[in-house]
Amino acid sequence: MTSRLPGFYELPLSERLRVAGQFAGLDDNETRPLGEFGALTPELTDVFIENAVGTFSLPLGVATNFLINGDDVLIPMAVEETSVLAAASHGAKLARAGGGFTCTATDPVMTGQIQLFVNEFTDDDRKALESSRANLIAWANRGHDSLIARGGGAREIEWRWIPGISSVIVHLHVDTRDAMGANIVNTMCERLAPMLAELLCCDTGLRILTNLTERRLAKATCVVPKEAFESRDYRGPEVVDRIVKAWEFAWHDIYRATTNNKGIMNGIDPVLIATGNDWRAIEAGAHAWTARGGTYRPMAKWGKDAGGNLTGELELPMAVGTVGGVTKLHPTARAALRLMGTPDARQLAGICCAVGLAQNLSALRALASEGIQRGHMGLHQKNLELMAARGPRVANAVAGSGAGES
Ligand code: MEV
Repeated sequence: MTSRLPGFYELPLSERLRVAGQFAGLDDNETRPLGEFGALTPELTDVFIENAVGTFSLPLGVATNFLINGDDVLIPMAVEETSVLAAASHGAKLARAGGGFTCTATDPVMTGQIQLFVNEFTDDDRKALESSRANLIAWANRGHDSLIARGGGAREIEWRWIPGISSVIVHLHVDTRDAMGANIVNTMCERLAPMLAELLCCDTGLRILTNLTERRLAKATCVVPKEAFESRDYRGPEVVDRIVKAWEFAWHDIYRATTNNKGIMNGIDPVLIATGNDWRAIEAGAHAWTARGGTYRPMAKWGKDAGGNLTGELELPMAVGTVGGVTKLHPTARAALRLMGTPDARQLAGICCAVGLAQNLSALRALASEGIQRGHMGLHQKNLELMAARGPRVANAVAGSGAGES
């Protein structure tokens, strides 16, 4: 059989599922899980993506103990990995002992790039761009009345010359308010491109947003009192020192930094998924931001204050939306946002950083003391016992899956 299936996208969803199942020789029992809908309907699923046959279910949990800017918040997280929810809740509990997380976010400014092919970037070109700034911004904003009414819109234009590709790269900065804003920015870039081409008498190349949204940052900080780390086996100040040393390891070693940052995204991605946000965009931006000095670094910073307490900070590009797109249409995403008290985009960005920081704190605390396997395998064992109580077939499936490893 061939995977070349002309007209596949035009088939009704149930028929696509039948064709795909037949292609792989699946029986009805094997095909059924591919065509489940959970909180979605076939109609909605078909609206989201092309060639849809069903939906994929992930466990959705609620992380506890989060105190963010003085407010108690429950955090919905969609994730398959054992111990992520427990670790987030534990990190939040540690931070809570010092007053929780303080979160801030910049204005939600996204950036679009327009590539202009020119043999050289002359003073006349620069002057032409300079004198057209206001017109260009006004032109980008045309047709975006509701965004402008909400206080958003194109704000600024910059450019830089990249000789290696004979290109002037124009950056358009747009305040997209509570929208993630990819569509708004891409539409504006495509609209501006012909005007810019005429201005510099040149061809245009790409017109697309950058996911390195360095003007759309969110930050979370926390101070954990050293006493919060006291345990039967470890003294609090010792754990603080060991966590700072663990962070230094990541600062000096890219292999450790990568795993450290995976742990941070363990916290952030599940919140993004639960709220219908584009986690690939945030991942790309977060890793690029972390490497902006030319070396890949740990995303968060950990240190010690004058009193010997642990201080933590995580700042990342955080282009999240709370209106429009999946966030609006997906009933689970809508409910997840309601569960968090309907944050706006800047608040959600701060929450994501707080969860990332909590996750990192919990991982570093465990790694720097007893190691992660005790808690991890404990949870895995608990899952196995629960499964065994529900039936041997399920328990065997879990035991053989390596669930709980990372
Ligand atoms: C596992 O998913 C994440 C950790 O490896 C993160 C870390 O090492 O910091 C525990």
